[in-house]
Amino acid sequence: MIHGDRRSFLSGLLGVAAFSATGMGRAATIGLPLEAADRLASDPRRPQYHFLPAANWMNDPNAPIYFSGKFHLFYQYNPNAAVWGDMHWGHAISTDMVHWKHFPVALAPTADGPDADGCFSGTAAVQDGQVVILYTAVHSASEDLATIKDGPRSMKESQCLATTSDPELKTWSKLAAPIIQNPPAGMQVNGFRDPSPWRQGDWWYMVVGTGIANEGGAVLLYRSKDLRGWEFMHILAGRNRTGLKSTDAFDPWEVWECPEFFSLGGKHVLIYSTLGRVYWQSGELDPATMKFHAERSGVVDYGSFYAAKTQLDTAGNRIIWGWVPETRPVEEYKAAGWAGMMSLPRVLTLSADGRLKSSIAAEVRALRGREQRIGLTGDEDENQRQIQALRIEGCSGEILCKLRRTKEPFQLALQSADGSATWLRLKYDPHYPDQVSLDSRPVPVVLAEGETLDLHLYVDGSVIEVLANQQQAWTRRFYPVGPHSQDMRLQWTGKAASIESLTVWQISPISADRLTT
Ligand code: FRU
Repeated sequence: MIHGDRRSFLSGLLGVAAFSATGMGRAATIGLPLEAADRLASDPRRPQYHFLPAANWMNDPNAPIYFSGKFHLFYQYNPNAAVWGDMHWGHAISTDMVHWKHFPVALAPTADGPDADGCFSGTAAVQDGQVVILYTAVHSASEDLATIKDGPRSMKESQCLATTSDPELKTWSKLAAPIIQNPPAGMQVNGFRDPSPWRQGDWWYMVVGTGIANEGGAVLLYRSKDLRGWEFMHILAGRNRTGLKSTDAFDPWEVWECPEFFSLGGKHVLIYSTLGRVYWQSGELDPATMKFHAERSGVVDYGSFYAAKTQLDTAGNRIIWGWVPETRPVEEYKAAGWAGMMSLPRVLTLSADGRLKSSIAAEVRALRGREQRIGLTGDEDENQRQIQALRIEGCSGEILCKLRRTKEPFQLALQSADGSATWLRLKYDPHYPDQVSLDSRPVPVVLAEGETLDLHLYVDGSVIEVLANQQQAWTRRFYPVGPHSQDMRLQWTGKAASIESLTVWQISPISADRLTT
């Protein structure tokens, strides 16, 4: 999403002083002065087990890939301020998708290059045993050449390629010229970005996100023999183009950003992000014509989760990562010195009827610490006492709740331990047995007769990721006040008899402090 405050920062930013490597020890290794490192390390709103850079701004996950024994995660990064702008590619590695080590910036804008004003999002591919990155380069341009025109400056996007022979993927060489210089001839676009290639038969194929004048968001399909020379084939998907009618309101600035297209559960799945939300479509790809016929569609996550990217893990699971943006005012996160984090890795699957499902990757379970479980009795007061005694220390925990859908409504709320703030409300109303309300937003959860409503929650500093029966996801930001971390408690309204089981785990931090390295 490059509109609003993010766009206007592109040219003349940097309200926050740049951090330099003057500190010692750990602070120095991540390039922060001690005082800044201390402040960030003790900020209770920073997560303990979600990935984020040690300081400053991040947005989209880029080019996640497992290569040569390591998971690599790149991401949109402003190394100089906690606001969007001057896009670089940050880089981190992991052996388990949970514990991360920060690596140096992988891609930076090249003065006078096609990416002079930013290295935007992209994807990795493996060609002849070596990783290449395809990404969008951005530079300012006259209005007739621009592909982004709705800001103070007009910008030209082109698709670029970088190679590496470094097994650690630290150093990259960019091809000097873009591999795709312009959008398809004659197409009036707003936005032309976020390439995502894959190998199929004798060809490389690639989707690129765009918005077409008076038509709205679309996904362009290209093919290539060598990842360098590309031929535009057709529009793979777009508003009202794949057989499914778009239900969201038409916005002339709509761009379908960060498209991803892959096979899953015997079908093909398209994922794209637009106007703050990630959508999916599933259906059939005709391999002869490369036309996509969508059959079902939905929302990947209703909350603060955007610009998702996928990768395969070592077992061939399709993992999805999303950018978790801030929902507090820009002045607040600028002052905090950091903004944005990565979602936990989620495994995507497709139900027999073609609905996209997601669950948190099993690797995250390794972080479970102290377990609290309630032993339900016939005594309502005693049950309530047990629920009220549950605590998540320092807002770093996991909750798994299996609920019976009886004739009684119920609500599960997460609150500060002193009860002064309620951070999340999940409600069930038996009048609407096929939905659950997540902070007043009703979302469909279709369950078989007698099946329990399974709510799985991950709480971390200032984020709560909620999954309901793997069918719906809701990533919620909340901002505890004050300089110290707080504990969290659960509040249950309704009959405890509706609870089949309720378990709470403390989750261990992934690093010695909140600098995530
Ligand atoms: C999505 C996005 C992408 C773009 C990047 C720029 O959040 O707008 O389309 O490549 O962010 O940072």
